[in-house]
Amino acid sequence: MFASLAVYALLALKICAVGAFPAYESLAGLSREELDAVVSSTKWVPPPPPPGPLTDQSSKLVHDAAHPYQPLQPGDQRGPCPALNTLASHGYLPPLNLENSFARFLVYSTFLVNGNPITNLMSIGDKTSLTGQDPPRPATVAGLDTHNNCEGDTSMTRADAYFGDNHSFNETRFQNMVKFSKKYGAGKYNYTVAAQYRKFLIEDSIKHNPQFSLVSPRLFTAFGESVFPINFFIDGRDTSGQLDLDVARSFFQNMTFPPDFHRRNGSISNFGQDYVTDLMPNFKPGYNAHGVNSYVHDPTSATLTQPCVRYVNFVNRNIKQLYPNPTGILKEALKINLQYLYEATVASGDGCTQVFPYGR
Ligand code: HEM
Repeated sequence: MFASLAVYALLALKICAVGAFPAYESLAGLSREELDAVVSSTKWVPPPPPPGPLTDQSSKLVHDAAHPYQPLQPGDQRGPCPALNTLASHGYLPPLNLENSFARFLVYSTFLVNGNPITNLMSIGDKTSLTGQDPPRPATVAGLDTHNNCEGDTSMTRADAYFGDNHSFNETRFQNMVKFSKKYGAGKYNYTVAAQYRKFLIEDSIKHNPQFSLVSPRLFTAFGESVFPINFFIDGRDTSGQLDLDVARSFFQNMTFPPDFHRRNGSISNFGQDYVTDLMPNFKPGYNAHGVNSYVHDPTSATLTQPCVRYVNFVNRNIKQLYPNPTGILKEALKINLQYLYEATVASGDGCTQVFPYGR
């Protein structure tokens, strides 16, 4: 399943992470002429500006007769994001009321790493030829499953990449979510549970994943996604802030809206994340340096209170590593997408200074 960036931008999401970016491979052995030939043989679709906020942000029925659940067909893909999977199942992209600037920030930071800047297409799952011919390595254009940006360790219902499958629903992890909801939420998932479960997930990965890493930008995603189920998966007519676990399973595992599902009333982003961070005031980004239980602080990573360090490092390190020396339309496409990313960053309230890795 794939869709254009413009369509994705109608939705929304959170922030993302790092992991193992391939090392720069000196234009992957291609000469400058060969490299330009690859890029110029691919259809150029200039990235259109992202859409603005939804005109109607009220609660309304989104599991309607016009958008029934459609089971997976051969060749369809799903990935690590329960919301995008669900929307794909209903062939229906705009309905969860994610706040516009946050949506744009998530989409462009994800797209710049996992999407094809020339064709303007991105897979919500694994790598696919449906996104068109790839730009030269070290760019990967490998979809949201890629363990390098948004996707990362300590997911609530997906295993860490080290254990083999980082994107499929994992019943063991979901049962931990159930256990914590019973212990701290009287059987429902709420902000208190979100904080306790996030703390557990981090401690658990430190103990069991020898390659555990939680640094920017994944750091931001991990803490943000903890509150997303509360903000988006509770029916808009219910203001209790308590997510029923059958409803949670409907999104996380079955990739479908519950019957009669109404979206929330009014747009929102990562409201409630403070509950999660407040439980771990001394937590610092880092990784297991020498196998399990060897967690060390990574001082080069942005912390959760340094959104501009996150922005600058993401552009100057992560994107520059993937696209060390782009030319022609590839360079143009990257510059346009980086501009949209910066505008979203500013619109989100972070007054960062813009950086231009490929010139103005
Ligand atoms: C209203 C919109 C959205 C909601 C409610 C939502 C919700 C979530 C949740 C709850 C998770 C965590 C899954 C888990 O830990 O088991 C997640 C993961 C993810 N989402 Fe979304 N999402 C939304 C939009 C997006 C968008 C627009 C993108 C990118 C274009 C995206 C990309 C991802 C990725 C890459 C992950 C994997 C992160 C990880 O490793 O856990 N999501 N999403």
